[in-house]
Amino acid sequence: MGITFDKDSGIFHLRAGNTSYVIKLTKQGDIVHLYWGRKIRDADISYMLRPTYRIFSPNSHSGDIEMSFDTLPLEYPFYGTGDFRSPAFRVQLGSGYTISELKYLSHCLSRGKQPLEGLPATYVEDENEAESLCIEMYDPIIKLKVTLNYTAFNSFDAITRSVKFTNLGNEDIRLLRALSFNTDFNDCNFRMLQLSGSWARERYIHTRQLVPGCQSIESKRGASSHQHNPFFALMGNDATEDHGDVYGFSLVYSGSFLAAVEVDQFNTTRVSMGISPFNFSWVIEPEKTFHTPEAVLVYSHKGLGQMSRAYHKLYRTRLCRGKFRDRQRPILINNWEATYFDFNEEGLERIARSARDLGIELFVLDDGWFGKRNSDETSLGDWVVNRDKLPGGLEGLGEKIRSMGMEFGIWVEPEMVSPDSDLYRKHPDWCIHIPGRRRTESRSQIVLDLSRDDVCDAIIMMLKGVLSSAPISYVKWDMNRNMTEIGSAGLPPGRQEETSHRYMLGLYRILEEITSAFPDVLFESCSGGGGRFDPGMLYYMPQTWTSDNTDAINRLMIQYGTSMAYPAITMGSHVSAIPNHQTHRITPLMTRVHTAMSGNLGLELDITKLNPEERGFIKEQIRLYKEIRPLVQEGLMYRLLSPFDGNMTAWMFVSEDKSEAAIFYFKILAEAHEPLRILRLKGLDPDRDYRLLGFDEIFTGDALMNAGFKVPVLIGDFQSSLFRLVTVE
Ligand code: DGJ
Repeated sequence: MGITFDKDSGIFHLRAGNTSYVIKLTKQGDIVHLYWGRKIRDADISYMLRPTYRIFSPNSHSGDIEMSFDTLPLEYPFYGTGDFRSPAFRVQLGSGYTISELKYLSHCLSRGKQPLEGLPATYVEDENEAESLCIEMYDPIIKLKVTLNYTAFNSFDAITRSVKFTNLGNEDIRLLRALSFNTDFNDCNFRMLQLSGSWARERYIHTRQLVPGCQSIESKRGASSHQHNPFFALMGNDATEDHGDVYGFSLVYSGSFLAAVEVDQFNTTRVSMGISPFNFSWVIEPEKTFHTPEAVLVYSHKGLGQMSRAYHKLYRTRLCRGKFRDRQRPILINNWEATYFDFNEEGLERIARSARDLGIELFVLDDGWFGKRNSDETSLGDWVVNRDKLPGGLEGLGEKIRSMGMEFGIWVEPEMVSPDSDLYRKHPDWCIHIPGRRRTESRSQIVLDLSRDDVCDAIIMMLKGVLSSAPISYVKWDMNRNMTEIGSAGLPPGRQEETSHRYMLGLYRILEEITSAFPDVLFESCSGGGGRFDPGMLYYMPQTWTSDNTDAINRLMIQYGTSMAYPAITMGSHVSAIPNHQTHRITPLMTRVHTAMSGNLGLELDITKLNPEERGFIKEQIRLYKEIRPLVQEGLMYRLLSPFDGNMTAWMFVSEDKSEAAIFYFKILAEAHEPLRILRLKGLDPDRDYRLLGFDEIFTGDALMNAGFKVPVLIGDFQSSLFRLVTVE
């Protein structure tokens, strides 16, 4: 286990779980990549490097015409001295020059993992869980030190990387690009899988064959975004859900990002990821540092499924934090789709009482409880209770909900301000803006300037006041627009391009302070649904509202795609009314319940309008969810049939000890004369026998996984079934 360095060969061997990541310090002081994949024994595999004379590749190592930066698999490539592929970073000096070249300076090995100050990151609880390596590189001409940080987890097939820049000179260095890592592969036989879409269509799976040149995904929105998630995978050309090499890349960051893949002239592949360099620069003053966000790299030799399960467990147990990390999450009812802005205290109480009778554990009051907020055109920033709607305030309502035996939670959107608000009238310069330009609105709101300390402090004070004013044990933290006219009144001209990253640092500071001040509050992040469903947010808030689209059928795609990198416990998923408010589709209640039960279950409809039969059904399903909740929220997820591949979707959750499983099966459109359907299960114990609950049938684990399980014919459109297995002792 761990990380070793062999002085003679210059080889660093990082062992993470069942994987090896091997890099080398060359005689010329370069740090190059040799191998990443299944664990190998210690060996000098320097032969993986094959310097070859290449015409048009400059000779960057004097005297050696076979060596060129253009062909070396550099671990952290620089710009301007012979490598014509994309660099991982780029700097500019006062002279205007943008060239740099790094050579090895020193390295150190240590147990455990250091936190990244001010940034979210994975962590260890015990220093024996991981080992870390830092390699210091140096450019003596511009006096820039670049420290490459690696951590290898012992029980996860995961390596984390980040980079620190230190200015050791006496003039400013401007960073123009500062990605979190770079990894070169020896070939380009990969498909790239990405999670892309739009509002209400987040994280759909798209794959493409790599081709020569650059292919990338990027957000320039000041948020990780609905459009592209800061995650992608490279799949070996023969890799599938359960077989073959898959490399996952995930960025622990919630702002604009770039994920770049470049296939070069010799069919090697260069992969890098980090803060989007677009409209970004950062001045590092003498003796000062800049730290990039962390990237989490996972290798799987058993396809996408194994990669996802590695991310799920790592993120559930060593990214998410706080009291709720290891707790099953409460089943909630949210009033948004039930009432929108049109509610009063009695109406909410009626919904809450009815919810309590069904076994629901938490009542969430969504948007509209403050200021004059009867539509989305006003009052963000004025976090004062609207007493016309709630005469007893949050406190009164909260107490009533508590006395019913439920927890009480509220919605906030603290990063925003409405032009029609007292806050904006008082502090018009507190928003992101450029003097003399229009302040473009989106959903009638403007973004507060979280790159400013005073604005962050005011938000912290406001939130502390609201959260202490009532018995609040849950907060939905929303964010409903992206950035335009990016500029800050708090920054000098030369630092304007720092605004959006400084915003993220400000946001992370607020979140750190608020979540530490209220450790008993469960926080759920949201950005118009899943516009900021990323590991950065999960570090502070251990669950996310997956999408504003609550349609059970669209949700199959959204939740399947999301599961590539994120565990079910993090995915807020609600049963809503029909016709669905986003798609107008009418689906059976059972299917809506099964889709929502495949994540972190909630309800979001006026349950007082349900008929007795529906209420009885939901009550029974809530009881059932409480039984399978440990499986869904803490078990291992196996994807069986993809909604992107056909009419059927299926996934299952298995307890870690393999004694129990829950299988969800969905059929989208009805078929006449339906063919026989066999579902081969996964993740069971082949040597144990399983009982199918509700039936008297016993199956062997090996038969269920190899011969399969015959699913019943489902009649009609949008149908689903849930099967439960328990081992027979
Ligand atoms: C967007 C969220 O995603 C919704 O769930 C809801 O909270 C609205 N905002 C409220 O404005």
